[in-house]
Amino acid sequence: MDKLNLRRQLLAARTALSPEQLRANATKVREALLEQPWVQMAGLVACYWSAGSEPETHGLVFALWKHGATVILPVLKEDNDLDWAVYDGPDTLAPGRFGIMEPVDTRRGVDAVRTAALVIVPALAVDRTSGVRLGRGGGSYDRALARVGPNVPTVALLHGGELIDGVPAEPHDLRVRFAMTPEGLTRLM
Ligand SMILES: Nc1ncnc2c1ncn2[C@@H]1O[C@H](COP(=O)(O)OP(=O)(O)O)[C@@H](O)[C@H]1O
Ligand SMILES: [Mg+2]
Repeated sequence: MDKLNLRRQLLAARTALSPEQLRANATKVREALLEQPWVQMAGLVACYWSAGSEPETHGLVFALWKHGATVILPVLKEDNDLDWAVYDGPDTLAPGRFGIMEPVDTRRGVDAVRTAALVIVPALAVDRTSGVRLGRGGGSYDRALARVGPNVPTVALLHGGELIDGVPAEPHDLRVRFAMTPEGLTRLM
C-alpha cells in the first residue's frame, strides 16, 4: 500500500479508539517506558506533546520532568522542520502552528535534539522488520532523526496494530530503534 492510503487507513483506525482506550493505552505505554533503566537515566529527553488520537504523552512528559529529566518538545517551523524548546511544567505550553501545544521557552534550535540521551517520537506506524517509521506526511521527524546519533535510543509510540509489515520507505525515511505499543517494547535494531 502507498503511504497516502496507509496513512488514511491508520488514521481512520485511530479515530475509532474510545477515550477509555486512549487513556488505558497511555497508561500502559507510560508505565512500560518509565520502568526502563535507560529511560530513568536519561538526563535530556526529546519527546512530543500529543494531540488528538496520537499515543498520549502528557503524563509521560510530566513524569519525566518530575523525575528530574530536562524534557525538550518540538516547535514546528514554517518548513516543517522541528525546532526545540524546554518543557518547564504544565503552565509553560501555548498553542503553536495547527493548534499544537508548544513550550513558550526560548527556542534552542533544530540541533538541540542532537544533545538528547533519549528521543521519543510519534508515528502512525513502524515496520516490524526494518524499523522504518511512517509519519503524517510532513517529514519533520525524518529531519529530526537524521540529527540523532546512532547510539541514542529512539522510540516510536504506537497504538495496538500499528507495528506492521510493509511500511513503504523512501530513501529519506528513517528508522527507530524501538517501538512501544500497549503490548510492550520491541527492539528493532
Ligand atoms: N531530510 C529531509 N530534508 C528535507 N526534507 C525532507 C527530509 N526528509 C523528508 N523531507 C520532506 O518531507 C516530505 C514528507 O516525507 P514523508 O517521509 O512522506 O513524511 P513522514 O515521514 O511524515 O511520513 C518529503 O517528501 C520531503 O519533501
Ligand atoms: Mg518519512
